[in-house]
Amino acid sequence: MDSIHIYGGNFLRGETKIQGSKNAVLPILAACLLIKGTCVIRNCPRIADVYHMQNLLQELGCLVSWAGNTVTVNALHVNDNRMWGESVTRMRSSVMLLGAMIGRLGDVTMAYPGGCVIGSRPIDIHLSALRKMGAEIVEEERFFTAKARKLQGMEQELPFPSVGATENVILAAVTAKGTTVLRNAAREPEIVALCGFLTEAGADIRGAGSGELVIRGVEELHEVKYTVPADRIVAGTYITAVLAAGGSIFLENAPAGQLEALLSVAEAMGGCVSVNEEGIGVDVIHKLKAFPYLKTEVYDGFPTDLQSPLMAALSLAQGQSIIEESIFENRFRVVPDLQQMGADIEVVKNKAYISGVEMLQGMEVEAEELRGGAALVVAGLAAQGNSVVKNRHFIERGYENICKDLRNLGADISLA
Ligand code: EPZ
Repeated sequence: MDSIHIYGGNFLRGETKIQGSKNAVLPILAACLLIKGTCVIRNCPRIADVYHMQNLLQELGCLVSWAGNTVTVNALHVNDNRMWGESVTRMRSSVMLLGAMIGRLGDVTMAYPGGCVIGSRPIDIHLSALRKMGAEIVEEERFFTAKARKLQGMEQELPFPSVGATENVILAAVTAKGTTVLRNAAREPEIVALCGFLTEAGADIRGAGSGELVIRGVEELHEVKYTVPADRIVAGTYITAVLAAGGSIFLENAPAGQLEALLSVAEAMGGCVSVNEEGIGVDVIHKLKAFPYLKTEVYDGFPTDLQSPLMAALSLAQGQSIIEESIFENRFRVVPDLQQMGADIEVVKNKAYISGVEMLQGMEVEAEELRGGAALVVAGLAAQGNSVVKNRHFIERGYENICKDLRNLGADISLA
């Protein structure tokens, strides 16, 4: 079955190592298209979204192979410039291939990447930024074409620091003519990782992680070996798990410096956080306090991807918490399932009002998307009795082995 079975109500105790970052490796795989040779990417998570990106690269003519968590991509022969239908619409991140394909091929036809349940996820900011660099983009009903003999670096400012649009401009700019200055760029750690990979390959990028990137186009990029950083959202999910269930855990390799917003919430709720060069420890020995008001923000504010998992933990905290979701228009989808488990949550527009309850009841619930599914696992760990989280495939898009990781932390959890 496509489910996860949890017997909840136990404290979590133990340690687990955090996987490589999904949202760092996806644009890095797209960047391999720019390199006429072989790239070796270590610590690559074996998750559905990565396999999907692998299929897209292979459809374009790349050779892709695996050894454990190391993936090798040879993009010497890219022999197709079209990205059609199901293989594109199934995963939003396919849009990240756009910038690399224009940079490599100069002529791309691509179906519109799908929206998803958390939001319509348009790509207007991507297309407008690439048009400013000289790409001739013609939008048809179900697909669009983008042509540019040679992209031209120029100064521009994004209307919103979109992560994906920033990544597409970076991928288009690294081999463009002249210098690109991108203001109001996204500052997420995944942008820093992508710039790290490209710099290793010979790109000239300054300002990674700041709101302003300066990219001087180079003739060619060369082969590179790169290690993907740990996944801050997976680490953050496991921190919300111990906030919900209680206990004492250590997350090896967890990037504490990228989780400051969550760690300060965890401490305000009464968790005890310890950080060292090996990772993050969190001890929760008594009932936690509510967090009065939290708003999701772009980095380095509280990450939208941890909003649902934290909501599961706040469902059991003493008092009322308010979460305002400011990034996606429909990211409270998990609320009805949490209510089914006994959570007291009311949603008014883009705010969720959570009143902590004494306990949650184990229940059969259904994941509808990646981070909402993770939130249901967090709730199941804290709920009394058995829970079954159906549609496990959503969770496996981003978590390499959530059951193994949580079993390492003492949870009674298994694939069902
Ligand atoms: C990335 O999505 C992440 N995905 C998301 O993680 C993450 O939630 C998001 O950044 C915000 O941090 C990957 O990196 C693969 P955006 P992305 O462009 O690039 C609107 C997960 O759970 N927007 O910063 O799509 C958009 O609709 C996923 O791992 C436009 O309006 O995020 C959204 O409301 C979910 N027009 C907001 O901006 C555009 O052209 C943020 O989008 C682009 C975006």
